Amino acid sequence: MKALVLAGGTGSRLRPFTYSGAKQLLPIANKPVLFYALESLAAAGIEDVGIVVGAHGPAIRELAGDGSEFGLRITYIAQSRPLGLAHAVLIARDFLADDDFLLYLGDNYLPEGVGELLRAGGPAAARLLLTPVADPSRFGVAEVDAEGRVLALEEKPDTPRSDLALIGVYAFTPLVHEAVRAVRPSARGELEITHAVQWLIDQGHPVRATVTTRPWRDTGSVEDMLEVNREVLDGIEGGVEGKVDPASTLVGRVRVAEGAVVRASRVVGPVVIGAGAVVSNSSVGPYTSIGDDCRVEDSAIEYSVLLRGAQIEGAGRIESSLIGRGAVVGQAPRPPHAHRLVIGDHSKVHLTP
Ligand code: TTP
Repeated sequence: MKALVLAGGTGSRLRPFTYSGAKQLLPIANKPVLFYALESLAAAGIEDVGIVVGAHGPAIRELAGDGSEFGLRITYIAQSRPLGLAHAVLIARDFLADDDFLLYLGDNYLPEGVGELLRAGGPAAARLLLTPVADPSRFGVAEVDAEGRVLALEEKPDTPRSDLALIGVYAFTPLVHEAVRAVRPSARGELEITHAVQWLIDQGHPVRATVTTRPWRDTGSVEDMLEVNREVLDGIEGGVEGKVDPASTLVGRVRVAEGAVVRASRVVGPVVIGAGAVVSNSSVGPYTSIGDDCRVEDSAIEYSVLLRGAQIEGAGRIESSLIGRGAVVGQAPRPPHAHRLVIGDHSKVHLTP
């Protein structure tokens, strides 16, 4: 059994971050979301992993390397343009050879999904992981019979035939290669994996469902990122390896990495503070990740994620925010107090009057 992890894509919902980096490298509790996928594949006993990469491939290669750190052998497969999930399978034909494999969406957080799919029994050309959702018309939806056979798939249906949405991991046999060659681009110009699965069903091949109610999230938008960060922080252990001065208070589970400094501040966990970060005269948390080498001074920040090297100084109160690498949020140098902004394309700033 191999795995194919998809870490290309456009990531339009996560602009401007995806202009300068891969969304699969955005941090959840200061660890790239992609690493959670790689760890869960290794924990399930998978050794050979192909990662499909797009424009930000070099950064992904640099961080994930040859996979030995995870106990994996990683092969990188370059996708020239994000032409769809089935296209990613199509270009991975040589790597996948004639092995069964898991297809894993690299921006999804589903730590227990791989194990559940692998434990599910019964022969099938493909096995889909499904979960009940409140708003099925936002998802790919599967119609499933009483024996767990998938009868049909629909993409974002107006009148869904079930509440079972497809989520980020699929198990395939080599039959899928015929299917991805057979499908044609959809209205949005992509080769859709749902069409390839529907092709298998139409050809009479058994496709089965595994229904899960375990935690799962797509980290494709800022709101999702902040929510996954909250959920993962909820499970962390506290521990101080850096320096916390006597004028500071830590409440609950707070992780302060080696080389981080907390001065005259109140930190309410769960919170992680990365190596080399400085928090001073501020209030941090709950549900906040401060990346390596960040500075938080004379500010309050809650339910937010700061990427490496971000700086917040005299910024008042910040919440529900995702702040990019090396970004600076501070006060204008002199009155009158007008807002002065230097922000990238497709950034969002919400000001309080
Ligand atoms: P999506 O999140 O569905 O697509 P996207 O990355 O284009 O995002 P957006 O809708 O915000 O523009 O992709 C799911 C995963 O698959 C994600 O990790 C990106 C990856 N992917 C590829 O590797 N190749 C592709 O051609 C596509 C479409 C996605």
